[in-house]
Formats: sequence, structure tokens, C-alpha cells
Amino acid sequence: MISSSVEQAVSQLLQGKLVGIPTETVYGLAANAFDELAVASIFSAKNRPHFDPLIVHCSSLEEVAKCTTEFPAPLLKLAQQVWPGPLTLLLPKQPFISDLVTAGSSLCAFRVPNHPLTLEVLKSLPFPLAAPSANPFGYVSPTTAEHVENQLGEAISMVLDGGPCSVGLESTIVGWDNGLVIYRLGGCTIEEIEEITREKINRVQTSSSKPAAPGMLESHYAPRKKVVLVNDWSQTHCDCNQGYLFFGDQPFEAYHFRNLSEAGNATEAAAHLFKFFRELDELPIETIYTQLLPDAGLGRAINDRLKRASA
Ligand code: TXA
Ligand code: MG
Repeated sequence: MISSSVEQAVSQLLQGKLVGIPTETVYGLAANAFDELAVASIFSAKNRPHFDPLIVHCSSLEEVAKCTTEFPAPLLKLAQQVWPGPLTLLLPKQPFISDLVTAGSSLCAFRVPNHPLTLEVLKSLPFPLAAPSANPFGYVSPTTAEHVENQLGEAISMVLDGGPCSVGLESTIVGWDNGLVIYRLGGCTIEEIEEITREKINRVQTSSSKPAAPGMLESHYAPRKKVVLVNDWSQTHCDCNQGYLFFGDQPFEAYHFRNLSEAGNATEAAAHLFKFFRELDELPIETIYTQLLPDAGLGRAINDRLKRASA
């Protein structure tokens, strides 16, 4: 059921139920982070392996601080500037955070999401919300309430409808290991992070076949159709049985296509990416041909998702 009632969402979550929640990045599949049974039901609804830990969503930085034993200064600076926003921090957890949430790790992922309805929900609850993206494991993250309802509707009690996600890409995951480490590129750019912390990123550790965070699996965030990256469109001609995902000026007229941003704007492209993946997945085509964006700002995170989709 899709509803925009905050009260109803709060009431379901208080009963240990699963609720789809809107955030500025993507929709989440939320449950009481302090209730192991509720957390376990997230894994089964998503068909998600238990070794893949969950992000704990809190209403404020103060709430996050209560759940951690240590807050490295550069990460604190980031939290103060970016939260609520598309940033997840890996921090040492208090013992009362269940190992089920962190998949046994002593670090827990925390985030204060920036969506008015979800912030209202979080402020009304006496506990934070564990929430992965609300998609079946490995598939593209949902950016509308309908995406969630269509794929997980039967497993969850409601989706709180907060409209389409404004950012459209998952949060950037940042940790501290004698320096800043990026574990997932996302809605908060490397440029912003370096500017705020006045530190250079030490390491970007986002791609691995044996990942520390399974969101780093090379073939993650993928549509079902085959995705092929094209370097040079002039070597390609339009085929009516194929789909095209362009960015900026279109190299040729195509039958089945989407344009991430005709104006060549990466922010607009991010907001469109997952919706267009889903739409192209529904078309009678075999392959989605697409291209990388300039590798800066949000373009980096978009390119990361495009590469994973084509892996
Ligand atoms: O934007 C987002 O972050 C969205 C919204 C709903 O907040 N959430 C999201 O969650 O993308 P999920 O579960 O789909 O991706 C979270 C990533 C996974 O790759 C997971 O492995 C990693 O974060 N992660 C979570 N907890 C971790 C931990 N304790 N240590 C290392 N990686 C962790
Ligand atoms: Mg996910």
C-alpha cells in the first residue's frame, strides 16, 4: 500500500513492521534498528545475504553520536556540514547495536537522510531505522514509491510516498583509516568532501570481487538487460531492437532511448539514472548501449553505477 501518512508509517514501524521510506538518495526498506526480528525481516524481504550490513538512519547527528564510541574529527566535520544529506559514515558502534545490523563488524554505517517526511518519522520514533535500499538484492535502487510497491509490495506493510528522490543515487560511504576512505561513490562528491575536511581522500576502495561492503560487488545496481559502454558513438549505428542511454548531445536519432540530461548536467543525470534503467528494462530490446560521463563531481558516482551495470 502506498500512502503519504507519516502517522501510519510511525504506527507500522512501532509494531516492528517493514515500511518503504523516501530519502533524498533512493527509497529505503526500513525497520526498527533495535529490534532483531524486524531487522531479520529486512533481509528476507530483500532476499539479501546476511553478510551485507545495513545503514542505520537517525534523526540527527546527536542521535548518531549516542550510538558510536568514537567520532574521528574529519568525519565529525563532514557530518556537521552534510547531514541531513547523502553521506553515510562508518563509525565504531556501541555494543547495543546488533551484529545482525553490521554483519558482525565493529563498525556501523550511519546516516541522517534529508527528506522531510522521513525526518518527521525518525523524530517521532524512539529508535533509529535500519534500512537498505528498497530493491531486491543486486537490482537497481528505487527512486519512486511505485518502484518499491511494484517490487516489494507483498513483503512490506506500506510505502511512505515522498515523491521522486531528488538526488537519485545512493549516499557516499566514508570511513576513517589513518585518513579518509571512500567505500562507495554517491550523492556527496569527492570535491565536497575534500573541501569540507581540508583533507585529501586517502583511498577510494569501491571495486572488488571480495568486497568489505557488498555494495561494492562489481555487478551490483544492475538492470536485467545487458548494458554495454560505448566509447565512441560514431562507430555505432542505430538499431531499432536496441536501447540507448545518452548524456548530452545525441549522436543519432534512436527508436528506444532515454537522455540522462540533454543539457549535459550531471545532477539531472543522477536523478534520472535508475528510473531510466527501469524503463529501458521494460522495453522490447536486448541491450542497453550507454556512455560514461565526464569523470568529476556526481559524474564519478554515475560512472561507477554504469560500470557496475555493465560488469
Ligand atoms: O543512500 C543510501 O545509502 C540508501 C538510503 C536508503 O539511505 N541506502 C542504501 O543502503 O543504499 P544499501 O544497504 O543498499 O547499501 C549500503 C551499503 C552496502 O554496500 C553495505 O555493504 C554498506 O553500505 N555497509 C553498511 N554497513 C556497513 C558496515 N558496517 N561496514 C561496511 N559497509 C557497510
Ligand atoms: Mg542497495
